[in-house]
Amino acid sequence: MLYPVSTLDELAEYSSFGFEVQTEQGIVDGFLVKTATDQYLAYKNHCPHQHLPLNWNPHQFLDKNNELIVCAMHLALFELETGQCVAGPCTGKSLTPLSIEIRDRVVWLSIES
Ligand code: FES
Repeated sequence: MLYPVSTLDELAEYSSFGFEVQTEQGIVDGFLVKTATDQYLAYKNHCPHQHLPLNWNPHQFLDKNNELIVCAMHLALFELETGQCVAGPCTGKSLTPLSIEIRDRVVWLSIES
């Protein structure tokens, strides 16, 4: 089942974008990141070691260079392309990826029903 997250026009000004989407299985708290090759990827908004949200501010999930995802509380760093933690208390663990599709300039969250 597909759920709308955002439009590409809305995302144009963001390097990362937080969202909450109501699905049949409940609310999905996630975020989108844009890679260096302009590809969009999505992850659940919780750290693999304490299951806390990663951000303190809306839509701010990246370090100051927009190169890595950061946990605002512990400054753990995660690769954009893989979600793998490369520094911090969860090194070696990974964020949970979410499946997305882009159709007609809309980003859709894809959840198996
Ligand atoms: S909650 Fe795990 S690094 Fe912050």
